[in-house]
Amino acid sequence: MEFQESIRQRKGKEKIIMLTAYDYQIAKILDEINIDLILVGDSLGMVVQGHSNTKSVTMMDMIYHIKAVARGAKNTPIIGDMPINSCNTTRDGLENARKFMDAGAHGVKIEGNKPELTRTLLEAGIPVMGHVGMLPQMAETYRVKGKKPEEAEKIFQDALDLDKLDVFSIVLECIPKSLAKKITENVKTPTIGIGAGKYCDGQVLVINDMLGLDESFKPKYVKRYAILNKVITDAVARFVKEVSAGKYPDEEHTYH
Ligand code: KIV
Repeated sequence: MEFQESIRQRKGKEKIIMLTAYDYQIAKILDEINIDLILVGDSLGMVVQGHSNTKSVTMMDMIYHIKAVARGAKNTPIIGDMPINSCNTTRDGLENARKFMDAGAHGVKIEGNKPELTRTLLEAGIPVMGHVGMLPQMAETYRVKGKKPEEAEKIFQDALDLDKLDVFSIVLECIPKSLAKKITENVKTPTIGIGAGKYCDGQVLVINDMLGLDESFKPKYVKRYAILNKVITDAVARFVKEVSAGKYPDEEHTYH
């Protein structure tokens, strides 16, 4: 069965688990754990490259990371996030989506409601994941979207449009849980939430956030499942201490 079909069949039955990955080693770990989907998100602009948003991420950046992830994840479907300006025309979008597939992606995610592009990619056999709510490529500031009735209605309509187009899943980002519930109950497509509450059909987090690599970044929806920042800080401090004291390398770690 194609992966999109097995994701679709999970709706209302079993939660879908997606995490981001940007490199070989993390992808390999996620692949071994057997999560459902790996997203090579354009969030790499922030967590890998250190920018304050995702607006400077290029196709070249994305392809570099998709290739690295594809070397690590041999069994998990990889979704490539189409970066800003990669889909300014439908033709560009199709050409760029094909480049993602050639790099090792199994499908693409498109931010916002772009019906012509979505239809074209699906007709070309490229699985598409939708993304509505807070859209980082368009947002001036990152805030919860859909609290105002007219904003909520637009997000709801965008989700209904994507549902009709037959995308295989829709990411709901940073919206109130009541709106996420209404969308999830009214579309046949599985919804995957990030900052959208518990009623979605699945959840996604940026791996660096859930592993606690940057203590200074903590939006309300992020739960830290580890504090790797502290683990790394402690390990480096021990290395510094042992090298300074002449304790490392000891005999065990020395060639003879
Ligand atoms: O870029 C990304 O990581 C994303 C997720 C936040 C869904 O789009």
